Amino acid sequence: MSRSYERYLDEILIPAETLQARIAELGRQISDDYRDTKNLHLICVLKGGVMFLADLTRHIDVPHSIDFMAISSYGAGVRESSGRVRIEMDLSHDIAGKNVLIVEDIVDSGHTLDYIISLLSTRQPASISVCALLSKPSRRQVPITLDYVGFEIPDKFVFGYGLDLDELFRNLPFVGVCKPGVQIGDDCA
Ligand code: IMP
Ligand code: MG
Repeated sequence: MSRSYERYLDEILIPAETLQARIAELGRQISDDYRDTKNLHLICVLKGGVMFLADLTRHIDVPHSIDFMAISSYGAGVRESSGRVRIEMDLSHDIAGKNVLIVEDIVDSGHTLDYIISLLSTRQPASISVCALLSKPSRRQVPITLDYVGFEIPDKFVFGYGLDLDELFRNLPFVGVCKPGVQIGDDCA
């Protein structure tokens, strides 16, 4: 793998093996919790949630469907959510009567999830739960109940495993901390 990310990497926060072990555990827990529940429907929030969804779904051994939605928040800097959120791509299927499990990469201020939950609540799902790979509790501005959390992390900007650094490095198998103040150079993009 190209090591072009190295100059932006302060430290590896969660190694690949630790991520995979925790995701397997989450999959088992979700399977147990939904064993007697019909219509489990995973909704992946793009783009950051794509790696997590792909690995998580393979550890869930109860029948379930998946769908995708893309969200963007705008108006603030690239590393900060503004609280103003917009749908870039909506779901392809109706969620009425389904037991929805939202699969998110990271919960920071909570604005994005707050928006998604409010929106999906208007569509008559049987239930809505949330599974976030990462959470930064110290950054929360909106209280959000997270039913499943992979890891609580400190207030640091992270990238890899679905999370981007200015749209790059989502493909890394680990979660790394970005060096403070770095910008992606043209030579890298
Ligand atoms: P929130 O609306 O502030 O909770 O932000 C949620 C979204 O911001 C996440 O879904 C990510 O797309 C992005 N985000 C927040 N923190 C990070 C980070 O440390 N690295 C990469 N993306 C992040
Ligand atoms: Mg996201």
